Amino acid sequence: MRRFLLVLLATPSACQGPLDMQVDPREPKAPTRVDGALSAGTQPLRTELAMTEAGRELALLDGALAVAGAETVYRLDDTEHLQALAVGATGEAMATGPVRRLARRGNGLFVVAEGGLFHDASGRLLRSPLSQSVAAAEVTALDDLGTGEGEELWLTTSSGVERVRGGVGTQVHLSFGDVGQPSLAVGVEKDKGLLVAGSDLVSVDLAAHTATWEAKGLPQVNAVARGDDGTVYLATLKGLYARNKLGEVKLYSFTTPSEQPLAVTDVTSAFGEVLVAVDGAVAQLEASGATAFGMLVRPHARGLARDASGDTFVLDGTALVKLATGSGHTVSFATDVVPFMTAHCTSCHATGANYSPIFDLTSYPKVSDPAFSALVVKRLTADGKPPMPPSDVEVLTPTDYAVVLKWIAGGKQP
Ligand code: HEC
Repeated sequence: MRRFLLVLLATPSACQGPLDMQVDPREPKAPTRVDGALSAGTQPLRTELAMTEAGRELALLDGALAVAGAETVYRLDDTEHLQALAVGATGEAMATGPVRRLARRGNGLFVVAEGGLFHDASGRLLRSPLSQSVAAAEVTALDDLGTGEGEELWLTTSSGVERVRGGVGTQVHLSFGDVGQPSLAVGVEKDKGLLVAGSDLVSVDLAAHTATWEAKGLPQVNAVARGDDGTVYLATLKGLYARNKLGEVKLYSFTTPSEQPLAVTDVTSAFGEVLVAVDGAVAQLEASGATAFGMLVRPHARGLARDASGDTFVLDGTALVKLATGSGHTVSFATDVVPFMTAHCTSCHATGANYSPIFDLTSYPKVSDPAFSALVVKRLTADGKPPMPPSDVEVLTPTDYAVVLKWIAGGKQP
């Protein structure tokens, strides 16, 4: 048994041993195929941004672009300059060491580096209490979801997959024919994760102690991303797999005129949109197919991101490229959020109809209050159970509520 995270615990007894998950042997249904073309869209202005070192990975920090260089993490400021994030508390001499990867943490960031695990706080990177254990293990992937006491980490290390919640690390083992141990884990919602083991996709529910075989014959997985509604996207050698919270699996296949499925090398999901790097192009996922809007000069895109203002960034090789897909419009409460609330929420909340609590979702002080806006996000997104609006009344997609997430990420403009 590998002990994880004892640093956080007073008593080692809270450490759980490996959790053996028996995978239900029922064969998965074939994924629903969505075939479409990779069509050419409008090409936005392309600029290469000045970098003092090679870029390695992209992420978002408070809705703005974050870039990992070799040993430094930068944030793109309003004047399009990269500012290095200070490490450690003020006055504390600390460095991350070589940066291995960036992972999303709410609106913020986790940095996996040789010096441990770091997270952002007030514009600086602080060493996380999890660091000791994480630095020891070779973290190859990290996914974080939920907030506060409900925060969960899914860690993939050289020795397997581990879920960390409330200071307790649980190693997840799959008992499944001759299938090996999982090589990649992504969180879906509380206690639920999706695992890639060899060419199989398995979902696990640690609370219910069930494991379901979701797909087989999975091609090589190049990248993963999770949408705000809990849909997990896998960029593979033969297309994009999308698995939603209900367990429905779709395979988006993008074809050339000669009908060969194209390899998807990267995927990201932000503010209701899904972007892929496919066949040397950056493209936006459509209901079927994808629209290419940026061409890559070097064959391997290493990072893909879209910020809160809608601009797209890609690491073309190690060069940072901006594709000006944004509208330049800063999302504000009065112009954007109020119309959304009026269309979808106030019919109940302003009057107390349908037993809803009476609060004013068009009041800036009310909605911009950090605790309340966190509650709104929780109910709108994957975290929300039950969702808002109630699902028997209306089901909103991440594209519908993207405006609220952009407004928060953009600093809650009045
Ligand atoms: C059909 C009526 C209805 C609509 C429309 C509706 N709600 Fe609700 N909402 C309720 C009811 C009833 C509750 C209380 C029960 C619950 O928490 O599920 C509630 C609870 C909430 C809460 C939790 C409050 C708390 O103190 O825990 C939030 C936040 C919320 N709604 C936000 C929204 C938002 C944002 C929208 C629009 C996107 C919306 N609601 C649309 C009926 C509605």
